[in-house]
Amino acid sequence: MPYQILPLSEHNLSKIMEIEREVFEYPWSASQMKDSILSAHTEGWGLFDQNQKLVAFMVISVLFDEAEIINFAVRKSQQHQGFGQKLLAYLLNHLSYKGIEKLFLEVRITNTPAVSIYQKYGFQQISVRKNYYRVGDSYEDALVLQAELQRKES
Ligand SMILES: CC(C)(COP(=O)(O)OP(=O)(O)OC[C@H]1O[C@@H](n2cnc3c(N)ncnc32)[C@H](O)[C@@H]1OP(=O)(O)O)[C@@H](O)C(=O)NCCC(=O)NCCS
Repeated sequence: MPYQILPLSEHNLSKIMEIEREVFEYPWSASQMKDSILSAHTEGWGLFDQNQKLVAFMVISVLFDEAEIINFAVRKSQQHQGFGQKLLAYLLNHLSYKGIEKLFLEVRITNTPAVSIYQKYGFQQISVRKNYYRVGDSYEDALVLQAELQRKES
């Protein structure tokens, strides 16, 4: 299916929040999302289908030669169709050209689809944060994963 990957803007906020609210039990607020997209230290990227509908988004914070994926989601009805990996592969390449050498993220230990996509793209576990995520009345550990990127010259 044809798709485009483009930087996100405030204009995309309602569609981003639609996805955020349907996939996460504890979604970010719209103002948190807006700040994270517009901040000078973050980048928001979206994957759009042929009708310019937002299918997936990712927010990355960047500091010197390190970056962190702070949000990543694919619309529920379009998960496991390859869109997540298209967006992740695109951004790994983009970050390599920006001179990023290390990319980090935190993921719930039981989030098998997410852990699996990150492992597929070379992320390795570097630590565990105990009881990091709230799940109902309980807590769940976070895995801290890291990928080493090769700097690319344009
Ligand atoms: C995690 C997520 C972003 C993956 O995106 P996706 O478009 O569904 O994934 P893709 O179809 O591109 O699949 C790529 C790989 O992810 C893994 N994967 C995706 N869905 C999976 C599932 N239901 N079960 C197990 N592995 C899965 C597989 O490794 C897959 O590779 P394969 O097709 O060769 O098996 C998406 O499922 C999602 O939005 N989940 C909810 C939000 C979330 O958990 N975000 C990450 C927070 S850290």
